[in-house]
Amino acid sequence: FPIVVLISGSGSNLQALIDQSLQGQLDVKIRAVISNKADAYGLERAKAAGIPTHTLNHRLFDSREAFDTELQQIIDQYSPKLVILAGFMRILTESFARHYEGRMLNVHPSLLPKFKGLNTHQRAIDAKENEHGVSVHFVSAELDAGAVIIQASTDIAHDETAESLAKKVHSLEHIIYPLAVKWLSEDRITFHDGKVSFDQKI
Ligand code: GRF
Repeated sequence: FPIVVLISGSGSNLQALIDQSLQGQLDVKIRAVISNKADAYGLERAKAAGIPTHTLNHRLFDSREAFDTELQQIIDQYSPKLVILAGFMRILTESFARHYEGRMLNVHPSLLPKFKGLNTHQRAIDAKENEHGVSVHFVSAELDAGAVIIQASTDIAHDETAESLAKKVHSLEHIIYPLAVKWLSEDRITFHDGKVSFDQKI
């Protein structure tokens, strides 16, 4: 099951996918890792695992459209069944999102539809939420608004900081993101009309 992973930073979610596929828990082939930042540590993780990498610096493009067109060409060279956004910090154009409709996933650090966008951990604390978490969802043109596949939550302690909460949420990401990818790779999830349906075996 060929996938391509897009990153901008540390790539710990990428690492979780690499580890699970090496351990035989996840039957996917990561065909390429693409970063918009040359110094993303995730590129080192990919190289260490023998995965081809690309860097596409968004600053060298005149427009979002031009960047996304080039990105799409690189991705499609690898004919992935699924495109995985793993800490890819770029807003996508509508035509890019539409091109991968039903075959592109993102992980967002909040219990969507709460706290779309950035600084989710601090915002959850400030809003005096009792719990917070992470969502894996299909990507739609609207930011952090596509159909949710799976969420995991954690309590917010009374002395919680954005840093401590981020750490807890991150470790949940590493569990549920590979799981969502596994379900898709095993054809246990279908995406139709903007909605997710699950195989009864899940
Ligand atoms: C995660 O917090 C994820 O929720 C957000 O970006 C971060 C990526 O972390 N979308 P990593 O690069 O996978 O370590």
